[in-house]
Amino acid sequence: MNTLKNYYGLVNKMSLLLLGLFVFIHIFNHLMLVISIKEHISFMENFRFIYRNIYIESILLLAFLFQIIKSIKTTWRERKNRRTFFEKLVFISKIYLIYFLINHISAVLFGRVVFNLDTNIYYAIAGLHVFPYSFYFIPYYFLSIICLFFYVSKNKKSYSFYTINTIGFILAIVLLFALKSVFYDINIPFRYLNMY
Ligand code: HEM
Repeated sequence: MNTLKNYYGLVNKMSLLLLGLFVFIHIFNHLMLVISIKEHISFMENFRFIYRNIYIESILLLAFLFQIIKSIKTTWRERKNRRTFFEKLVFISKIYLIYFLINHISAVLFGRVVFNLDTNIYYAIAGLHVFPYSFYFIPYYFLSIICLFFYVSKNKKSYSFYTINTIGFILAIVLLFALKSVFYDINIPFRYLNMY
């Protein structure tokens, strides 16, 4: 029993570490859009070289699956707990992150397997550029960053809490501007726009 518990604890820690590393590089990669789309794509191609192979990607997706299932279980168990306003916000951000990750990962796999598309940045942002889908995708991406930073900061002392969330907020705004072509025009190929 104890061995099983130790094993579970180890898988939990390792998967969190892996997710943290992936998400950090993933978001940094999106930030490169501020410089240019060429920089963003060339960084992603190098990054893909590491994770886009059957072994690493399977481990990565299994780690996400493990954390998603674990979070659904704890969220369900704690659904009736009494909460302060702050705890309610933590609970809501956790539910949003579960929703976002299920949606985001299945959309990427779906795009690759069913639409046979390169699931690059054009795939991610096409919906942001087509009315009325933009009304869905703007809060969709914005909240993913806000909730992620809020969730990470939830147990931190006030100075770190405010610093992490201020960075998260600025990042979410800058990323959204970049994804919405505010800094320069992004010409999305028709095969991506045609999905909508
Ligand atoms: C600004 C918001 C975001 C955008 C525009 C975005 C875009 C993308 C794109 C284009 C891919 C496909 C990558 C590929 O084909 O190699 C992807 C994959 C993925 N993203 Fe995001 N992402 C965003 C935020 C996030 C966040 C906040 C998380 C996690 C909390 C996340 C987790 C993932 C995961 C797990 C994958 C699947 C990796 C794989 O191909 O196996 N993303 N994202």
